[in-house]
Amino acid sequence: MKRIAVLFSGEGGNLQNLIETVHGNTCHIVCALTDNPNANGIIKAKHAGIDVRVLEHRHFKTREAFDQHLVAILQSYCIDLCVMAGFMRIVTPVFTSQLKAINIHPSLLPRFKGAHALERSFYSADPLAGATVHHVTEELDGGAVILQQAFQRDTDESFQSFHKKIRAIEYEILPKAIIGLLNDLK
Ligand code: GRF
Repeated sequence: MKRIAVLFSGEGGNLQNLIETVHGNTCHIVCALTDNPNANGIIKAKHAGIDVRVLEHRHFKTREAFDQHLVAILQSYCIDLCVMAGFMRIVTPVFTSQLKAINIHPSLLPRFKGAHALERSFYSADPLAGATVHHVTEELDGGAVILQQAFQRDTDESFQSFHKKIRAIEYEILPKAIIGLLNDLK
């Protein structure tokens, strides 16, 4: 069975969704890695019996040194794919030159790259919103799009309801993208 690692920084909602959708059937999540020792996702991964690794950037002088260590940890798990799901770190070529990685982003890229995409998308006048799974390159949220799903916005929608719709899309397209990519590797 194919092996993936999931990288996260906070809640781990996408991580939990992957545990429920792909873990143990299309692939094994062999490692859940975070840069945040207080991330709630840690509990979710441990509960599922997944190896958790914490790598704090404050222990490294440069982004490259952090990435070097990150790559070494992930390579030690012999992964086929690295999945970033709410991992709040920008990676350098040290990472991208050595690992195949994808990321989930809560907007219709190339709209709203970077931080606070959900809020920026909500407060925009764009008639459509959605989420994107894309390849990770050294350009922040700039890699080729793998899957994207949109919905037509309601003009009087609350932020909470908007967020819920984005979440639902994320939970649908991230597992789909993983299954598709891992199938292509066969
Ligand atoms: C998701 O909306 C993801 O698109 C963004 O960060 C959020 C992570 O949430 N990059 P969670 O940790 O998966 O709950």
